[in-house]
Amino acid sequence: MIEEHLHESRPHEDRLHEDRLHEDRLHEDIEKVLVPSAAIAARVRALAATIGEDYSHADGRLTVVPVMTGSLLFAADLVRALPQRRMRIQLTTVSSYGGTATASRGSSIVGALPKHLEGHHILIVDDILDSGGTLRLLRSEFMARGAADVRACMLLRKRIPSAMNTPCEYVGFDIDDEFVVGYGLDYDDLYRNLPYVGTLRKEAIGRELRA
Ligand code: IMP
Ligand code: MG
Repeated sequence: MIEEHLHESRPHEDRLHEDRLHEDRLHEDIEKVLVPSAAIAARVRALAATIGEDYSHADGRLTVVPVMTGSLLFAADLVRALPQRRMRIQLTTVSSYGGTATASRGSSIVGALPKHLEGHHILIVDDILDSGGTLRLLRSEFMARGAADVRACMLLRKRIPSAMNTPCEYVGFDIDDEFVVGYGLDYDDLYRNLPYVGTLRKEAIGRELRA
């Protein structure tokens, strides 16, 4: 029985997972937790309620566009918290920080853009608003492809002029201008699996480069 198997394997798997986190010293690389997982969960519910209300007349023409890879966890939680209505989900990948860089190098779209956007209400979901380059790029691409309107929902926004001056309809949390990881956000594709958002210890930055 599949259910029995799941039931038996879960505690063991969880223990393995915790052991591995401990062995990896993943959490020890974190300097401080900025947004705890419970705060994220509560904010996701509140955002979903507002967005659900705002799109109540979208009439099946809502397309959610999660920006990979940073919004992987946020988008998955957000769409499950939205009212259960017909909507499309189409991923897009934008490359900005790349690898071990912690400063923006400008944005470019990697691979194909979402298709059939004509007349659709587009909701871009991304992890963090920093220079604003990613959001400006996607908004203009989607409008040029005939979207009815384009809005954005960002988990985080840095309290810096470039971010605060970029129009954004839905924001989870405003944070200080620090490099953050967790809940989808990465440093060299690491730390995305942390359930909270935090800052990295200096020793963790560039470790791979020094090794
Ligand atoms: P923007 O185009 O400069 O607004 O940058 C947005 C992208 O840069 C985000 O989607 C992230 O992938 C990346 N980014 C910006 N700030 C951070 C950070 O503090 N930690 C991790 N990634 C970041
Ligand atoms: Mg990103």
